[in-house]
Amino acid sequence: MRTYLVTGGAGFIGSNFIRFMLEKYKFDITIINLDSLTYAGNLQNLKEIEHLGNYTFIKGDICDKKIVQAVFDNHEIDRVVHFAAESHVDRSIKDPEAFVKTNVLGTAVLLAAANKAWCKPGGGYTENKKFLHVSTDEVYGSLGAEGYFYESTPYSPHSPYSASKAASDMLVKSYIDTYKFPANITNCSNNYGPYQFPEKLIPLVIHNALNGKKIPVYGDGLNVRDWLYVEDHAKAIDMVLENGRLFESYNIGGHNEKTNIEIVKTIVDILCKMLDKEDKRKKHISRDLITYVEDRKGHDRRYAIASDKIKAEVGWHPDTCFDEGIRKTVRWYLDHEEWVEGITSGDYQKYCEEMYVLR
Ligand code: NAD
Ligand code: DAU
Repeated sequence: MRTYLVTGGAGFIGSNFIRFMLEKYKFDITIINLDSLTYAGNLQNLKEIEHLGNYTFIKGDICDKKIVQAVFDNHEIDRVVHFAAESHVDRSIKDPEAFVKTNVLGTAVLLAAANKAWCKPGGGYTENKKFLHVSTDEVYGSLGAEGYFYESTPYSPHSPYSASKAASDMLVKSYIDTYKFPANITNCSNNYGPYQFPEKLIPLVIHNALNGKKIPVYGDGLNVRDWLYVEDHAKAIDMVLENGRLFESYNIGGHNEKTNIEIVKTIVDILCKMLDKEDKRKKHISRDLITYVEDRKGHDRRYAIASDKIKAEVGWHPDTCFDEGIRKTVRWYLDHEEWVEGITSGDYQKYCEEMYVLR
């Protein structure tokens, strides 16, 4: 009976991961979800599993040493799966400090607590412990028209977000090199799927189109991202926890490179087809909503991940192709309008006004 400490489990990927794990392992595992519930954390994301006896939610900040220490003192943690982060590039451009605090300091606090809890008095670590640090392909910087990010690609982050993630990766690497701390790092490409906060491109396009609002496309719309369905990311993390070689980093990507404008047009077209004939919103959804706006500062041009290592060593491959994943995602947002309403009330409107309305 393994105990997993999942940080940031109330966010987009964390909540999908927790659902995936409890579905797969049922009562053979215990999950503790430590999340401070920032604007991006939402317990509604875990409504279906919150009653389970082998799931516990703890509201707490990973920067708070006392809380983190108490979690390790009160539970025999076998696996740390560290998602908690400030995750949105645009917000990092406005307020870098919050990113340094959670992403760098928070990771340092967690590493220190796990290190203390797992090290044996005579040296070395208690067997079968692992810390998996969930990171991003953005640490590698930006590609031109050709090439891929490999695990050996030098780090070259450009935004305060990616710089803070790179710093947190370096902290994990320093623990590996200094203490032989039992860790893996995963660097994943852009995720999409259910429960993503509508500040990120795909849910934002769905939300704006449904509400007849302009769809902001940064710059020329030709920046490229490599999209991965979120369940495939959850599966990859589980497989790295099980089969990944200790101390290694693994890139995770979907081989699904798309320009932003392709993504936006695809979503608008799917929405037009999916909505019932009688649905009034059908009238106002069209590609005419697409509006080119000022580019993101320091906007990385292209990300593309080489996933050869995780495929060869761990046996992972993505199951969901983009055509299927994007349809499932649009369907999910249409079926969960209450969820969207819940999180787009209050501060969300103010945020959109500041960030997106035709800058
Ligand atoms: P998210 O913003 O949806 O969720 C982040 C979660 O962390 C929220 O529940 C939030 O409440 C929590 N959190 C934030 N600060 C905290 C703190 N100080 N203490 C405790 N909890 C805190 O993020 P996401 O998109 O699910 O990303 C999760 C992780 O995956 C991040 O580390 C991100 O860098 C990484 N990642 C994301 C993507 C992507 O496409 N979304 C791709 C690759 C890697
Ligand atoms: O690559 C992995 C990263 O993917 C993760 O580490 C980050 O946490 C995650 O937020 C995501 O970062 P991006 O900046 O790539 O994602 P975002 O959805 O914000 O933007 C995707 C692309 O779309 C990017 O080129 C910017 C563009 N964009 C975004 C928004 C929100 C627009 O053109 N218009 C928009 O309104």
